[in-house]
Amino acid sequence: MNIEFSQSRPEGLRLIAQTADKGKLPEGLEPAMKQGADAARFNGRVGQVFDGFVERDGAVIRVAIAGAGDPGDAKRSANLERTGAALAAKFQSAGVEKIGLDGGNLKADELAHLLMGLRLRNWRYDVYRTKMKDEQKITLKSVVVFNPPEGGEAAWSAAEPVAEGVEFTRELVTEPANAIYPESFVERCQARFDGTGAELIVLDETQMHELGMGALLGVGQGSMRESRILAIRWNGGKQGEAPLAFVGKGVTFDTGGISIKPGPGMEDMKWDMGGGGAVAGGMLALVKRKAKANVVGVIGLVENMPDGAAQRPGDVVTSMSGQTIEILNTDAEGRLVLCDALHWTQKEFQPARVVDFATLTGAIIVSLGHEHAGVFSNNDELWSDLDKAGKTSGDSVWRMPMGPAYDKLIESPIADMKNIGGKAAGSITAAQFLQRFIMDDTPWAHVDIAGTVWTDKAGATWDKGASGFGVRLMDQLVADTIER
Ligand code: BES
Ligand code: ZN
Ligand code: ZN
Repeated sequence: MNIEFSQSRPEGLRLIAQTADKGKLPEGLEPAMKQGADAARFNGRVGQVFDGFVERDGAVIRVAIAGAGDPGDAKRSANLERTGAALAAKFQSAGVEKIGLDGGNLKADELAHLLMGLRLRNWRYDVYRTKMKDEQKITLKSVVVFNPPEGGEAAWSAAEPVAEGVEFTRELVTEPANAIYPESFVERCQARFDGTGAELIVLDETQMHELGMGALLGVGQGSMRESRILAIRWNGGKQGEAPLAFVGKGVTFDTGGISIKPGPGMEDMKWDMGGGGAVAGGMLALVKRKAKANVVGVIGLVENMPDGAAQRPGDVVTSMSGQTIEILNTDAEGRLVLCDALHWTQKEFQPARVVDFATLTGAIIVSLGHEHAGVFSNNDELWSDLDKAGKTSGDSVWRMPMGPAYDKLIESPIADMKNIGGKAAGSITAAQFLQRFIMDDTPWAHVDIAGTVWTDKAGATWDKGASGFGVRLMDQLVADTIER
């Protein structure tokens, strides 16, 4: 969706939108609009949209008023995103290509939030739908903001790359596994990052063998698709300053392997690369807005398939760190991918902090549902930075416990550890496993996003499907802790 700015109201607009704070209709409205809004009990509540047709300057146009709530509300930014999203939801398929948005009632940052909500809610991926009826198609293509507040255009320029990042993540997550597999994931990133100034590093299977990544390669060995590691590096910060590293689980499809998953719902496992997708989108946002920070994103890309060549329950593999792992369940593959990606990231980039994103466990959905991602961390300060970034960005997180008693649950009689614990505390034992690959108490956090990457129903600022969760969290964390 294209967003432009214009000082005065462009001619020929067929749809004009305006915001109204609670209890306060915009000035200069025609009597029909005023009385109509009253009759429809429109009072400026967030999420409400009232629209009608009026004659202005000799032409009939549609005018929409979107409720923006109370200007003093502590959740003002989030509210305005919902305001923008409500406009998108209402007019996305209404047959109008362009909305003229009167920015007169808004401050610069308020306008940027409204546009963010509008743009994110309008996003949909229809490339495979060749037989959509005209009335189902998205017609809304652009917004022209006229009468913008001072600094409004600059505020949006700073926010737009983040919208782009979220959209890129959603695209990667939405694509089926016959379109997105390790190599094509890399290619799509190469195309997106081309000309941005980011450095992309790709490891193929030969290189990973040489590095001794037996855990990651073991997961991919049953697949016709070759595994990859992709690193995206952005040095926009102080020269020589240790980077922040984001690491993502990029399992492009998770059948479970020989420990195969049940059929119903298996199609969901196309989004088992959601952590990697979030890292790619998060990096795109940071790179496109030229963040003043050194950041590296590393994505472990594999497909987990059952096959004659697949690894078996009982196999023992050696990770790049030298630690050995007894595979008791080939469906607990994400940690095997991440442990080598995490080790390589630390050796290669000596990061100051590491945050990994992964659709790691079904158990986190049992714990937290779809409202929060679970965070596991060895460092209180990093946790509190994530908590704060989560609250500001709307990507909500909740801390989960860790400790030696949980760590004991993954001891193995034959190797240094096994890849599953028992029935209890499945998300925590997964995190304990990852922690064994963090060197020298480097501040680290693991974000289990299994419950938040995908939604089955449309919400305030998103349609159903891929959420793009994680992108805004990463962007906010960098803004708060490195760029500040
Ligand atoms: N990708 C899954 C986790 C998952 C499950 C994500 C459901 C989203 C929705 C992961 O690889 C997995 O299969 N984990 C197992 C671990 C178990 C075998 C210890 C799980 O959660 O059941
Ligand atoms: Zn699995
Ligand atoms: Zn998985």
